[in-house]
Amino acid sequence: MSEQEKVLENIEDRVRTIGVLTSGGDAPGMNAAIRAVVRRALSKGIKVRGIRRGYHGLLKEEIIDLTARDVSDIIQRGGTILQTARCQTMRTVEGQQKAAAICKKYGIDGLVVIGGDGSFAGAQKLANLGVNTIAIPGTIDLDIACTDYTIGFDTAVNTAMEAIDKVRDTSTSHERCSIIEVMGRDAGYLALWCGIANGAEKILLPEEKDYNEQEIIDDILENKKRGKKNYIIINAEGVGDSLNMAKRIEEATGIETRATILGHMQRGGSPTCKDRVYASTMGALAVDLLCEGKTNRVIGYRNGEYVDYDIDQALSMKKTIPAYQYSISKTFAI
Ligand code: ADP
Ligand code: F6P
Repeated sequence: MSEQEKVLENIEDRVRTIGVLTSGGDAPGMNAAIRAVVRRALSKGIKVRGIRRGYHGLLKEEIIDLTARDVSDIIQRGGTILQTARCQTMRTVEGQQKAAAICKKYGIDGLVVIGGDGSFAGAQKLANLGVNTIAIPGTIDLDIACTDYTIGFDTAVNTAMEAIDKVRDTSTSHERCSIIEVMGRDAGYLALWCGIANGAEKILLPEEKDYNEQEIIDDILENKKRGKKNYIIINAEGVGDSLNMAKRIEEATGIETRATILGHMQRGGSPTCKDRVYASTMGALAVDLLCEGKTNRVIGYRNGEYVDYDIDQALSMKKTIPAYQYSISKTFAI
């Protein structure tokens, strides 16, 4: 055995119990990640504790042992078997100290946090208090700067795309304008991807809130003259106001206009193959990183590889809408 292997074996020896929690908005594929954490850890002789309801459950000590059988039959299920929550107390120093003390009380040597950047901030605070943490990006919004992939986006965008195809059918039959609102309070990735995938005439993003409604009205009238049978607007939740927008557009154009808000159906459903495979890989990698003695890391997928970043560095990165994709989407609507 080489010196490096001996060092690694000793570190691995020290990790006896790993905790796992899901936090923030749920996302399809979180169950696949939980399953991977449990099975990878158990295969290395490490005990796993599941923490229910995110940081809220941690502070309430809602902690259960997880066996290999507890995660049977979940890889294909949406949601999260551990439930998820938002927790204000975790934002306070007292809450963070209590959470760290509870981890120690339950012998949790390493904690895997599956969630968005808010959840990463919680993991960072726990790491600073001596709890080894690894974060996994889980959000349908794809709004984590250090990674090209987040668990749930692929499923959510396909769910939304299929729903929008259906709205398009009826919109064409009735020669209407349809406004379809997709999720994304602060991030427009779902809107942009659906806009391109569904061939929308207009995409409204939270990152570009200052859209000109008169220009849209003029474009709808031009579109009709060009012989098109419908006009699809994909509107992000962060822009919102779809129902009123529909009324205003109908009044100004004389063209029947309907608004459809897809809402939380985008967060549910069986994860796609991609979400299952990437989530499984990230779950296993989180365990491996903890075994290597790493902490305060977030896993990402960049340029075709699974990578990990310091959480401080990851949280300081900024993600913007890809300008080229956004600009070409406008040229497809002629
Ligand atoms: P997401 O993880 O999807 O971004 P939130 O932003 O709602 O979702 O964050 C999830 C939870 O993470 C919060 O309810 C809170 O418990 C915790 N959290 C968020 N920000 C911080 C912070 N700055 N410090 C500690 N915990 C935080
Ligand atoms: O999961 C991400 C997200 O769907 C955002 O797009 C949205 O703003 C938010 O969650 C809404 O979450 P909730 O309805 O659970 O507060």
